[in-house]
Amino acid sequence: MTERSTAGAISNGHERRMSQPRKPGTVRIAAVGDFHCGVDDVGLYRELFTRVNEEADVLVLTGDLTRWGALAEYKVVVGELADVTVPIVAVLGNHDYETGDVEEGSRTLRGRGVHLLCGDTFELNPVVGFAGVKGFMGGFGRGMLTPFGEPETKAFVKATLNEVHALELALRRLSTPVRVAILHYAPIAATVHGEPEAIHTYLGTDRLAEPLDRYDAAVAFHGHAHSGTLRGHTLGGVPVFNVSLPLLRKERPGAMYYIYDVSAPASAETSKAAMSIG
Ligand SMILES: [Fe+2]
Ligand SMILES: [Fe+2]
Repeated sequence: MTERSTAGAISNGHERRMSQPRKPGTVRIAAVGDFHCGVDDVGLYRELFTRVNEEADVLVLTGDLTRWGALAEYKVVVGELADVTVPIVAVLGNHDYETGDVEEGSRTLRGRGVHLLCGDTFELNPVVGFAGVKGFMGGFGRGMLTPFGEPETKAFVKATLNEVHALELALRRLSTPVRVAILHYAPIAATVHGEPEAIHTYLGTDRLAEPLDRYDAAVAFHGHAHSGTLRGHTLGGVPVFNVSLPLLRKERPGAMYYIYDVSAPASAETSKAAMSIG
């Protein structure tokens, strides 16, 4: 997969791109995270989400769907997604765990038909599949936390490695030629750039990039870093997009999701990927 264009695709106009016919075999992904629904947000996103039915084949949610993870907020999320008819694939974020209603909240999302991935997979069709984990923190490059010293430190790193292994197993399980990864935490440093350096360690870890490269993911989406950077790539060249809503709206006010096209790599004509903010 290669990117067809970069900043131009954003500024060239959402309307024009959305009206472009999709190439045969192409799957158009709409991705967003960090919309943080609160109980007073009823109706805030419903109409915007409804547009995805015309603009994409699948909606990807990269976590922090709620403000504090309360069951009442999960129910607001379901209400905002009520008119979406395309498949919805999601992971949870740290905010979705805060109140402790995560089990019932997850059931509520799944009851709506959301494919909620916690180390699981979802195959949209024989070509495109999704592997999703929340991920975890731990830092990047030489700043990465290592399992040295106190048991508490080792337990922290173990929690990160569990997520890395879950991502690896999910990617491995996918039988589709196009593998899309969904995370909440960032798998590379480039897409947290813009956040205060002092908190980079808490925004993700590049341990999560290793499975993306090993299993040749077509693209990865994440959120969590609200003031990060839209795009980057792993050392192996996997495109990575931070689709946190506050960030998308900095690039394009009123945006609700990021659009990215994927297709089977067998055809050079259709292996190009296009993107814009919707
Ligand atoms: Fe967030
Ligand atoms: Fe978060």
